[in-house]
Amino acid sequence: MARVLVIGGGIAGLWAAVKATDAGHAVELVTKTELAEGNTRYAQGGIAAALFPDDSAERHFADTIEAGAGLADLAAVRVLVDEGPDRVRDLIRFGVAFDRGESGLERGLEAAHSRARILHAGGDATGAAIEHALVATVRRRKVEIAEQTMLVDLLVESGRVVGALLLGASGRVVERRADAVVLATGGSGCLFLHTTNPAVATGDGVAAAWRAGARVADLEFTQFHPTALAAPGTPLISEAVRGEGAVLRDASGRRFMLDVDGRGELAPRDVVARAVWRRSLEQGGSPVLLDATAIGGTELARRFPGLDAVVRAAGLDWAREPIPVTPAAHYAMGGVATDLDGRTSLPGLSAVGEVARTGVHGANRLASNSLLEAAVFAERAVRAITASERSDRHSAAASPMAGMPRGGSEAQGTTPVERDELRALMWRRVGLERDGAGLAEASARLEAWHAPEPVDRRSAEDRNLLDLARLTVAAAQARRTSCGAHFRTDDHDAATATDATTWEHPTPTPLEREAA
Ligand code: SIN
Repeated sequence: MARVLVIGGGIAGLWAAVKATDAGHAVELVTKTELAEGNTRYAQGGIAAALFPDDSAERHFADTIEAGAGLADLAAVRVLVDEGPDRVRDLIRFGVAFDRGESGLERGLEAAHSRARILHAGGDATGAAIEHALVATVRRRKVEIAEQTMLVDLLVESGRVVGALLLGASGRVVERRADAVVLATGGSGCLFLHTTNPAVATGDGVAAAWRAGARVADLEFTQFHPTALAAPGTPLISEAVRGEGAVLRDASGRRFMLDVDGRGELAPRDVVARAVWRRSLEQGGSPVLLDATAIGGTELARRFPGLDAVVRAAGLDWAREPIPVTPAAHYAMGGVATDLDGRTSLPGLSAVGEVARTGVHGANRLASNSLLEAAVFAERAVRAITASERSDRHSAAASPMAGMPRGGSEAQGTTPVERDELRALMWRRVGLERDGAGLAEASARLEAWHAPEPVDRRSAEDRNLLDLARLTVAAAQARRTSCGAHFRTDDHDAATATDATTWEHPTPTPLEREAA
């Protein structure tokens, strides 16, 4: 039996906690706020898996690779699509009631999927349904749960992660030791001014892993969702709405996506997001419009009850008129580099869910693959922890980089970091379109700031945001050609680079190469 510390309470952390307990380990689960908060709860689009007779793992594989712009890791995608259906069946066993019609499970279509294969629960409340079922499952297990407890740093001894420093509800930093630490801290959308993510998504796991000496990769690939409501908080308007037939129109009412890509509104997410961004700039900054009127009021309310409420709360009636939408930061394709079993480059540390870079998403994630990735790789990570526990958990060779604190926060500027300014800078200079001059400006501004001492949640998050911003800018500077979600306007061969779907193993980012 190992002492397993799971950090994060979304699908990846909950899955790891349940499965590690079932494998006989003593598990502690810590979450930054309350257990159910985090990106999982807000996932509307659903979970993708090849479960229907007209579909196959092969098709899901091809769609994932194609959307990833040639940079996805083939072995990781193979694992995802082959093991995905079993993890969805596990979710059903955990109590997730996926939507059903007369002929069984209902399924939806989303961008860049060649088949309708997305399962939903509660219409547009899939993440909430999964979170609810997994929280109930965790509560039935003997899992020690610490809410309002945030990761500050990982503890590294002789090149091995042996626990973490945690900021507890009392405001004190405490040391927690463990045989295995599973990072499941989620994403980092709050790095950008506009995001669909909740306020907890500040990239804590990636920043802490980097400071501890773990390898990180692909941080230049941030996915911007094309359709957040252009209203305070930029709430997500699921791609599933376009899957049901909604179209994008410019200010003059013209449907413009077919001019950009033959797949129209269901082209890969990076393509649609950039087209929405460009069209908005061309029309003087006013948002483009999502026209869902053809779906009809009754169906919109039945199929998307949560979104219907959000849209109406913003004073809009989407059954009668198109609604204003804008791109917003949505998902981090990069993160802490892992192998196929969630192992990071640091012995004792696994990473699962959005904090991890498994390689399945390449340069652009296929819609509704994120919940699936979290379940598939959390399952594998726990199996690997159990297997290494049975052999010799202390035998893993230490990486030469391990244990050496390093990373962005070492570079200290003269003025304290300003969170709102940092987020605005990242949006302006490291957003949907980047170029060398803008990235250099961002880099200089970031270097001028210093990180605060992590004495409370706000300061600990600011330190992480600054570290991650510096790493993201460095990664974006190093990748000089456009690829997937990383679009450089100073790459004059951009069209070729973006279209490339060469099915190769991922090219290591310079940061990854440097760290290897
Ligand atoms: C959406 O519903 O559009 C988002 C789903 C996802 O990010 O996969």
